[in-house]
Amino acid sequence: MNICFDEVTKIFYLDTRHTTYAFFVNELFTLEHLYYGASIPHDDLRGICFRRPYSFAPYERMVGDCVSPDIFLQELPAANAGDYRAYALSLLDENGKYGCRMHYVSHAVYAGRRDMAELPCARGEGADSLEIVLKNKAETVEVRLIYVVWAEEDVIAKHIEIKNCCDREIHVLKAAAGVDLWGSDFDLIELYGTYHCERADVQRTPVKRGLQGSFSNKGASGHESNPFFALCAHNADENRGEVYGFNLMYSGNFKNEVQRDKNGNIRIVSGVSDYEFDWLLAPDETFCAPEVVMTFSESGLGGMSRNFHDFIRRHVIDPRFAFSSRPILLNTWEAFGFDIDEEKILSLVDRAKEIGAELLVVDDGWFRSSETEGLGDFCVCREKFPSGLGVLAEKVRAKGLRFGLWVEPEMVSRSSNLYQTHREWVICSDDVKYLGRSQLVLDMGNPAVIEYLYDRLCLILDEARPDYLKWDMNRYISEAGSLLPVHQGEVMHRYVLGVYRLFRLITARYPNLLIETCAGGGGRFDLGMLYFSPQIWTSDNTDPFTRTDIQLGTSLAYPPSCMGSHLTRARVTGLDASEDFRYTAASFGLYGYELDPIGLSARECRRLSEFSRQYRKEEAFVLKGDFYRLIGHRSGNFVAYLQVTKDKSRALFTLIQFLFVEEERSKIVRMRGLDTRARYRCSLDGKIYSGSVLMNLGLRIGDMEYQSGKAVRILFERV
Ligand code: DGJ
Repeated sequence: MNICFDEVTKIFYLDTRHTTYAFFVNELFTLEHLYYGASIPHDDLRGICFRRPYSFAPYERMVGDCVSPDIFLQELPAANAGDYRAYALSLLDENGKYGCRMHYVSHAVYAGRRDMAELPCARGEGADSLEIVLKNKAETVEVRLIYVVWAEEDVIAKHIEIKNCCDREIHVLKAAAGVDLWGSDFDLIELYGTYHCERADVQRTPVKRGLQGSFSNKGASGHESNPFFALCAHNADENRGEVYGFNLMYSGNFKNEVQRDKNGNIRIVSGVSDYEFDWLLAPDETFCAPEVVMTFSESGLGGMSRNFHDFIRRHVIDPRFAFSSRPILLNTWEAFGFDIDEEKILSLVDRAKEIGAELLVVDDGWFRSSETEGLGDFCVCREKFPSGLGVLAEKVRAKGLRFGLWVEPEMVSRSSNLYQTHREWVICSDDVKYLGRSQLVLDMGNPAVIEYLYDRLCLILDEARPDYLKWDMNRYISEAGSLLPVHQGEVMHRYVLGVYRLFRLITARYPNLLIETCAGGGGRFDLGMLYFSPQIWTSDNTDPFTRTDIQLGTSLAYPPSCMGSHLTRARVTGLDASEDFRYTAASFGLYGYELDPIGLSARECRRLSEFSRQYRKEEAFVLKGDFYRLIGHRSGNFVAYLQVTKDKSRALFTLIQFLFVEEERSKIVRMRGLDTRARYRCSLDGKIYSGSVLMNLGLRIGDMEYQSGKAVRILFERV
């Protein structure tokens, strides 16, 4: 068991392979944080606590002015309870009073983990759990603070569950989790971006006094921000230095707060956004908040990323898919948009096979010809597909390709029958109904909507029997309100729970269906989605000049093996990119195509088919390898990364030159993650180098040529 409790000191120790997390039950019966960082022995750590009077810091008379909730580090900071820093818990009790000071009552330790009701949560294999029961003085509220420890991956998850133990309703105004850390010499790292640029902007700023953080109020985790963030030592880089990583397993409105307090310590709170959030809890009901996943590494940002990559592959993504080969797909969207029909789809099949595609995805356009129609009804457009989806899919399969389909279940078009019959099923407040991409958002918190969508999707899936489903979401939520008589403060969270419920129903009925989620590109790239869909479309931007930044930024928190990534003809930057460069960028993640194969010359066809074969040889690096960023993201003219097999016997190196620059036409790059004592054959020159030389001295990458958008790939194989 990796969780211990010392009966004398009342200290809890949570140990992973390389980290220790410790806190104790203090004089106020409050859970006081002691330590999170590199592994340490189970000493009595209470001497570290800050114990002295502090002007204006409230205290309990019985215990004395040396112990104020506003000073010490807390495990569950609550609002209106003598601590003026950011809080994780805020309640309005049955008497209409704000406040929620919780004291320790009992705890239990067990192997594995409990499921989290309607929310996705990381899978419990190899985990140990600690569940602490806390109550307020009147014992009208019970809070369970739950820690789950995955020792092997150095990950700890934390969340709270709030139970109403009185006979009147209470309001949950905030339910989050986080950690307090000693000291403030940290940088905050967050993933920002926008459409076509998701997570490409890795922002690193020193933690300042006051409040920093990121959030989304859009109903999805968003293009502009991401629930992931990290705190690292000022001198931490890719390979060295202390880094804490955090990610919230949630796909809707979130809020991450990072606060440097008056004593120079850091508070982190991460959870469902409290923006217009107000959850009414009836007697005996429990509210379960999403879990925050945390890791710590002394091996820099790379170490943190690899912890998360392993964790996500082993414990978040469905084990049926996590490490298995994914089909190379050809998707119709980039080349044809809405302009698809049965004849065209069938005409693609032979060429698709020739270039090495294994699955043909019919994207948007099978039930409509423009974005103003069809959503909600999802009735196949008979003018375009006279034989229907089942026959089409059968014909595609008969020719040796698997079949995939696009849907956007959460949306409805104004002109649809669904909207005409159920105007009360959309999200809006009063009569205001903003459109986004000409569409409205269904009220996924309404069980009738979920029931309808489930039946509708089942009909489609039973007819077409696709192997792959692309689940899109193309607008954010505005005027968040339900037309049902529900408590309006719950609408946004209920929306997300409804989405999860629909995923649960569909994945239970079609366990072998590979789902790729998408939100106008990569606008909902989070752990909640990854629990249901083993892969996510990373961005609609597939221009390799900028896709590389998107993928490297995303790799900070998520493994390449969950990033949908296609070779296309896109020229978002206006620059011409060579096929090789396009292949390199696309083979970073789960490889596929979005182009018109009919228009390809025989030479192009051959090249793409070679790429498909090459990808199959390289796929294991993507699915199972350790990922090392070598030359940084957006930091200059070069990007380099290395994918190493777990046994360190093979490694695939990639160097990308964006613009040709004379003084950088030759570069020495140091590898990482190899076996220092092993010797490797290098595919660049056929020579043998020791791992130690490659890592300490590096390898000279010869003449980079007068070419912008140049990719060099080198395979190292242990001899
Ligand atoms: C947005 C997605 O990102 C695209 O790949 C495509 O599926 C379109 N939606 C279809 O409407």
